[in-house]
Amino acid sequence: MELKKKVVIDCDPGIDDCMALMLCFKHLDVMAVTAVGGNTALEYTQRNARYMTEICGKPEVPVYAGYDQPMFGKTVRAAYAHGSGGLGNVTISDPEKKLGEGHAIDRLIDIFMNNDDVTLVALGPLTNVAQAILKEPRLKERIPEIVCMGGSGTAGNFSAAAEFNIYVDPEAAKIVFESGIPIRMVGLNLTRQNRIDLKDVEEIRSIGNKVSDFAAEMLEFSAGADGRCSLCDACTVVWLIDPEIIKKSLHVHVDVETKGEFTRGMTVCDWREYMDMDPKQDIAHEKVAEHPFAGMKEPNVEVAMEFDQPRFRKLLMDTLRMYG
Ligand code: BDR
Ligand code: CA
Repeated sequence: MELKKKVVIDCDPGIDDCMALMLCFKHLDVMAVTAVGGNTALEYTQRNARYMTEICGKPEVPVYAGYDQPMFGKTVRAAYAHGSGGLGNVTISDPEKKLGEGHAIDRLIDIFMNNDDVTLVALGPLTNVAQAILKEPRLKERIPEIVCMGGSGTAGNFSAAAEFNIYVDPEAAKIVFESGIPIRMVGLNLTRQNRIDLKDVEEIRSIGNKVSDFAAEMLEFSAGADGRCSLCDACTVVWLIDPEIIKKSLHVHVDVETKGEFTRGMTVCDWREYMDMDPKQDIAHEKVAEHPFAGMKEPNVEVAMEFDQPRFRKLLMDTLRMYG
């Protein structure tokens, strides 16, 4: 039997974080979940993470609480997209499962200093990850790769330029993106290629187990708002579960804007070697030029570009069915 890939998941559940956890618990070896404040306050994100381990039948997976607030900027939440408790209209009571002892960043440091071949999955603002790197700089050599949901190769969602996770804590994102740790980035340019609508929600509801019922309840809130949702975090973890769902990716240099008047939190992707003549596809998916463009830096990020939506949808439905 093939060994499952080892991961630690830093997240801010959050509806799509919960959907990502459902996928990870069935297909990956989740060593720990660390919670960060983001979509909602840490008080709820750590609670929701504990709840997920319980309903997904993984109470042995430890959950640790990290930072609630970003490193420098003002605290920003996304209650409009996730509800004030992070689960849409679903209310839950405090799970029996207790929080793991210690601060999430100390646990991240322990895990990565003492284990090889563990991928760090980051599905929220990068506060915990950056603080861990600052506290233990040897993590730069110890973390083999980070797969993160954040940023965009094109437009943002929280502002014209910035995606929510990066917008919330751009300084943290800058530390992580400049760390030298190999990064695979799933940005909004990719997740917009996914669409889960109310018909899909009904199909999920018809599966009829505890996990799928919970998913349907949450997704009704997400898809109900404008008829569809993208499940950004779930689109991200599939890169580790079934890599073929990410049909195309490009290695480019990505900087994080921390100062711009209009662009704070933007992931500035250097597409200059990919600028094409086709007006319908301004960013080509193959190199069209190899110039020594002014100030061009070495690629530091593998950016996801093309998504196999039917394959993703099948994986999602099949996985939800696996819950009983
Ligand atoms: C990201 O922001 C959060 O609202 C979601 O959980 C996802 O991680 C999408 O911009
Ligand atoms: Ca998230």
